[in-house]
Amino acid sequence: MEDYVLGIESTAHTFGVAVVDWDGVPNGHTPLDWAREPARAGDSAEPKILSNVSDSYVTESGGMIPIEVRKHHSEVADGLFEKALKEAGIVENQVRVIAFSNAPGLAPCLLEGMEFVKKLARRLNVPVVCVNHCVAHLEIGDSVGAKDPVMLYASGANTQIVAYESGRYRVFGETLDLGVGNFIDTFARYAGLGFPGGPKIQKLAEACENKSKLIELPYSIKGMDVAFSGLQTKLKNLLDKGFDIRDLSYSMQEVVFAMLVEAAERALAHTGKKELLLGGGVACNSRLQEMCKIMCEERGVKFFCPDRSLLVDNAGMIAYLGLKMFKAGIFEKDLGMVDIAPRERTDEVEVSWK
Ligand code: ATP
Ligand code: FE2
Repeated sequence: MEDYVLGIESTAHTFGVAVVDWDGVPNGHTPLDWAREPARAGDSAEPKILSNVSDSYVTESGGMIPIEVRKHHSEVADGLFEKALKEAGIVENQVRVIAFSNAPGLAPCLLEGMEFVKKLARRLNVPVVCVNHCVAHLEIGDSVGAKDPVMLYASGANTQIVAYESGRYRVFGETLDLGVGNFIDTFARYAGLGFPGGPKIQKLAEACENKSKLIELPYSIKGMDVAFSGLQTKLKNLLDKGFDIRDLSYSMQEVVFAMLVEAAERALAHTGKKELLLGGGVACNSRLQEMCKIMCEERGVKFFCPDRSLLVDNAGMIAYLGLKMFKAGIFEKDLGMVDIAPRERTDEVEVSWK
């Protein structure tokens, strides 16, 4: 007997659908009976991500308008669902449970995802697992071997230094104003570069010809917390004054990533953990990866970073965590109990599946 978990992601700019298969279900149990049982010793079957497809809202020059993003999601949802089933080689009746990211995020986007999920769950008569998007960014780390890491979660809306301790993901440090991705995107938008700006800024930074001359920028870190708004103002001023966008992109990356790496290093020292895991969309940046790697080598710490397809917003990580939760008996059969939680924080989630 094989089980398939369908994952749905819709917290912000990306609508994603994924199918995860977990073979190795103990014999003699129907999937739902089995799901209520605790994990067994020796039950080491690993979930397999069979398909992980998505479509993101992008713009040439402006930012993200939530209502427009919702419209985008409703237009691509059915097509992505079919594509995900086809790539996984299954039909919809083989789906046993649907996991979706119900928190945190933009309410219109979350609602679009939830409506899609409820309609489908009703039609297929399957339970639903509500997954916190941020926790999913962290939990996918164990698919690349991280066991008990300090996590540098660097994405659009979030920038946190997180580690697991007694039943929860504790936030040791975080941004005091903007998420690092939103900060980079805002600067990029100001420079007329469109959304998302992170990859474009990375290219510009790589094209910088004055790498030996770092432009002086505010470096703002307190303990393990960071802040970007002073830096934002300074960058805009320098751009207005005619500084080269390549030079600014380069110096900005050097300064911002140094702040993140310093905060992560403090958390490693504080917790005594021996692994660093990089996660979230900004983790796609090869310079950030390189700086983390150097710090880890110097400290004798192991460094982990999932593949790009699992770093950016994606449904694979939602299905992956959804399956772990399902296995621990965390799911909802009564669809009336399923709701969105746009502001749920990483450390509010009780991690009872570990
Ligand atoms: P959150 O997890 O906080 O809800 P999110 O949903 O906005 O964040 P992710 O897909 O995890 O998004 O990350 C998107 C962010 O990653 C965007 O801000 C984008 O600019 C940034 N990003 C993607 N690639 C790169 C890159 N190569 N360099 C820097 N930033 C990048
Ligand atoms: Fe994300």
